[in-house]
Amino acid sequence: MTESPSNGSDTVDDNRRTTGHERSTAGIENRLETEGDPGFAGDLEYEVVTTPVLVIGAGAAGARVAIELAESGIDPLVIGKRDHGDAHTTWAAGGVNAALGSLDPEDDWTIHAADTFNEGHHLNDPDAVELTAREMPDHIRELAEWGMPFDRTDDDEINQRYFGAQSYRRTCFVGDRTGEAMLETLVDRARELEVPYRENVMITRLLSDGRRVDGAVGFDMETGEGLLFRTNHVVLAAGGFSALYHRHSSRDDENNGDGQALALEAGARLVDLEFVQFHPTGMVGDRYGEQWDGRLVTEAVRGEGGRLYNSEGERFMERYSPDQMELDARDVVARAIAQEVREGRGTEDGGVFLDVSHRDDQYVRDRLPSMVERFESLGVDITEEPMVVGPTAHYTMGGVDIDFRTGETGVDGLYAVGETVAGVHGANRLGGNSLAETVAIGKLVGAHVAAAVTDGDDDPTLTDGQRALAEREFEALRELAASDGTVTPTALLEDLGDLLWDHAGILRDDAGLREGLAKLDALRERTADLRVAGDRTSKSFEYAVDLSMSLTVAEAMLRAALERTESRGAHYRTDYPDTADDWRVNLVVAVEPEGLSFSRRGVGDPSPAVRAALEADHELDYHHLE
Ligand code: FUM
Repeated sequence: MTESPSNGSDTVDDNRRTTGHERSTAGIENRLETEGDPGFAGDLEYEVVTTPVLVIGAGAAGARVAIELAESGIDPLVIGKRDHGDAHTTWAAGGVNAALGSLDPEDDWTIHAADTFNEGHHLNDPDAVELTAREMPDHIRELAEWGMPFDRTDDDEINQRYFGAQSYRRTCFVGDRTGEAMLETLVDRARELEVPYRENVMITRLLSDGRRVDGAVGFDMETGEGLLFRTNHVVLAAGGFSALYHRHSSRDDENNGDGQALALEAGARLVDLEFVQFHPTGMVGDRYGEQWDGRLVTEAVRGEGGRLYNSEGERFMERYSPDQMELDARDVVARAIAQEVREGRGTEDGGVFLDVSHRDDQYVRDRLPSMVERFESLGVDITEEPMVVGPTAHYTMGGVDIDFRTGETGVDGLYAVGETVAGVHGANRLGGNSLAETVAIGKLVGAHVAAAVTDGDDDPTLTDGQRALAEREFEALRELAASDGTVTPTALLEDLGDLLWDHAGILRDDAGLREGLAKLDALRERTADLRVAGDRTSKSFEYAVDLSMSLTVAEAMLRAALERTESRGAHYRTDYPDTADDWRVNLVVAVEPEGLSFSRRGVGDPSPAVRAALEADHELDYHHLE
């Protein structure tokens, strides 16, 4: 759908500089006349929007960047694909980590960092982990000051719960709707600071010559109108790519890899794409209906004592992880569930039972109100009976390669943050660390971008070459919308989801990954026969745009998984079941003229303070819970 950016020749200043909003039809009407396509006349006008900083993505990470910018006196423009306050963050339910020590005073930030490295199997970026762990207590206090209604202890301390693979109770929460409460708090704060926000915008490419970014191109999803953003600073905060999988915990039209694809096309690198987190407890569609398939049953259920049973009534985690039981790392619990089902000890709907009914009714209602309500609406009283759950693609640890001191991607003017990037979580993520990353790294990136903004950024240069690039993109979008073949984007995305689930799921091997890549090639060929049923305001068009980005990321992920010939964290190769010391490296993906390239990069070491915490070998004794 998109073409390669022009190469370094866009150096002539464009005298049509504008500020604010400009309507333009330059270059488009002529082509229309030539092509004689009256159906799109007028529709091909585009709006030019100028901003010193464009933040793409309006979840917690994008919001925190914007707040930092606004507090530094800079007005960014935040754009989101959905309504303000409606982002994937709302689905992170169980909590956010910070070593406050409210209940376990032995906890401290070095142990939080050590748990994060252990869970990440030591592929994490040390700067990123240590900054996050060190600063999270302050971020929690800041969020509380901004009005986030954290659950409190009887002493009015911020309450903390158990979460998987953490040595102490460290996960702060608002019932089981922590992400939603956090996003509401950040959005309210951004509104107080009058941060400009524009809803229902989809970005389809960045204006880049491979070395620097000068803006972005997209369209308004409500009107179909083209949008050209002139800006010297773009922050990608567009989420991950777990929704590419058939079974996933996010909504279908989010987390489809657009942040990673946009960055790669603009000249940035990706890293560690092979690490996809399968959350152990997603709802099982065959039991609850397809619309619920894969949706999260929060880890807080297990944090509050929930137990897993197979169809034989056996508490099977005793066999897989007798010390940490249901609160072992997510990859361990997910693989255990998958094995129980594979070996015929699953429920008739293909899951296992998750049961919290041994706890006091009122306790369950207080701690897990959303779960109680959701299952009640499906006729299940979780205070009395178990839920049926199974693994679901939940989070992608891999993503854009950034410098964690700045958020820079290596392409001037392009920054990234949140699930879009790789680094904090290494080979697997601790539950509760995704929300932590959004605010800790979000503030850092916001501060760095604020320092980089200069007076000239109010009126950025847009060269003729860049404008031509944008107009080619609008043309490509017009052509895409007019696709009248026989295969819908939805059908292709569904096939992609099955392909990834089958060939790059919880268990992988060489033959399966190669077969997945062959199927991906075949799927790509079918895009030549695409049918978009509707105009540029339709879901069909949105999915068609998603498709080209999703295919890019899926290929990079499959190839990275093939490349890494070991098992580590969430990447489990049945043909290489052991972790290999010489694979303690990040796998970097770049675009070269001949296609994607993969190279290994060494990982830094933790600081002496964190090394001491690692050596102390702290570990949750699950039996505290019983
Ligand atoms: O299970 C959960 O509530 C998920 C939280 C997370 O992924 O951090």
